[in-house]
This record gives sequence, structure tokens and C-alpha cells, in this order.
Amino acid sequence: MAESWEKIAIGATDRVFVLTGAGISAESGLATFRGAGGLWEGHRVEEVASPYAWQRDPEMVWRFYSMRRKAASAAAPNAAHYALAELEGVLGERLFLCTQNVDNLHERSGSRRVLHMHGELFQSRCDHCGGEAFADTRLYETAAEHARCDCGGRIRPDIVWFGEVPYHMERISAELEQCTVMLVVGTSGVVQPAASFVRWARQRGAGSAVVRSYYVGPEHPANAGDFTQVFEGKAGEVLPQILATDGE
Ligand code: OAD
Repeated sequence: MAESWEKIAIGATDRVFVLTGAGISAESGLATFRGAGGLWEGHRVEEVASPYAWQRDPEMVWRFYSMRRKAASAAAPNAAHYALAELEGVLGERLFLCTQNVDNLHERSGSRRVLHMHGELFQSRCDHCGGEAFADTRLYETAAEHARCDCGGRIRPDIVWFGEVPYHMERISAELEQCTVMLVVGTSGVVQPAASFVRWARQRGAGSAVVRSYYVGPEHPANAGDFTQVFEGKAGEVLPQILATDGE
């Protein structure tokens, strides 16, 4: 029999900070990074997603991100993405969604207030001149297909790689300081700084004593001790129950 979970209490003055990771897209068929077989052609993700890999082997890096572009285009949002979009419909600007994911499944399920701290799969930018990132759905499977910027720099994925600074940190800090509820979904709690957000919210957040923090995923994350409650289950099964908005 399917397990059932109690709805979490979100009051009229609560501000909810949601952090999602690869696990929320797992039921859409997108592979997580550290799950079983979390390798790509024998490489750990840290070896493919780094400025060093880009310098050494841009063709391999673009093949990796082209494969991910293909997989994300073929995937559809799941019940977990929709539950968060619905919650945004109810809470409006009292909900802030920060994702470590580079896919666009949150947007495709209807979420509008989404911030991608690790960049976006369907955007590219120059690796040299600091020009703006631009929408890009192309696949670059061989070096011959690689593009150049007008300045002569190489076009790279607009992804925050290991060793680079995550995007939007000021906005994220401000939201962490105001939130009263922290909901973390499908992330292993090992990649910084995201792994520390729950602790920051509880130490510095609005009335730190009252910040309630919840984790949703089939396994306990590395930072499980930082949560008020862990819902051990798949995001697509747990979120629609704990965030149920119908009848209100
Ligand atoms: P990981 O692959 O490290 O962790 C995925 C998490 O999702 C694990 O804790 C799983 O237990 C959980 N999970 C699996 N199936 C799930 C389901 N159906 N519902 C809910 N949870 C599920 O991915 P992240 O923590 O997101 O960075 O990885 C963090 C960052 O490291 C990524 O953003 C990426 C990666 O390298 C960059 O690409 C820069």
C-alpha cells in the first residue's frame, strides 16, 4: 500500500524557501549525479563539469552537455514539479524556489519564481568576454560544430562548474534571512554552498527559533541532522501530499 504523509502547516505569514536538486527530476527520467552508475563515460561529474575539463577537452564537455540537453528536451515535469508550481500559485511572492538543477522542468510545470544557482542547460555564453548568456538549444557533438563569439572566445555552456561561484548568491542570502519554512527536495547535501542553506536559514533566518525545515527524498541526505523532519520517499509521491492545496 502506498505510504501517506501529513500535510505540512504553512500559515498566512510564512515565507517558504524551496531548494531542489537532481532528485526532483529523477521521476522525469533524468539521471542524478551521485546515484548508482553516476558516471558518464567513466568520468565522475566533477571531472566533466569543471573549468579544467573545459580547458583540456572542450569536445568532451560539450558532448556531455549536449547529451543532457537531449535528455532534458525529451523529459516532462512530474508530480513534484507541479506540486511546487501549484504552491506558488497560492503563496505568490511568499514562495522562493532556488534550484541546483540546470533543466527547465520547474518552468515547464508553471513555476515562475525560479532561480537557477548552477546555471541553465539551454543557455550558453562566451568563455572570454563576459558577454550576456543567450538561449541556445543546439547540440555540439563534434568540435567542428563548436561556436565562437565575435570576440574570438569560445561558446561554453552557461553552467556553474566546480570551482566557479554560484549565481544569484545575494538574492539567495536575502531570501534565506526572511524565510520561516525551508523545504529541501532531492539533493544529497554534499555540494556547497547549497548544502549549508538550511543551516544558514536556521541560524540567521527570520526568528531563527521558528524556522521549520523539511527534507524530501528516498534517502537521508548528508546534512539530515539540520532538518526538523525528513520525509523519506520519492518527491513525486510525497510533495503532492505534504503540500496539498485543494479545498482551501
Ligand atoms: P545528487 O545526485 O548528489 O543527489 C540526488 C539526490 O536525489 C540524492 O540524495 C537521492 O537520494 C535523491 N533522489 C533520488 N531519487 C529521488 C526522488 N524520486 N525524489 C526525491 N529525491 C530523490 O544531486 P544534487 O544534490 O542535486 O552541480 O547535486 C548537487 C550538484 O552537484 C548538482 O547541481 C550538480 C552536481 O555536480 C553542477 O552541475 C554544477
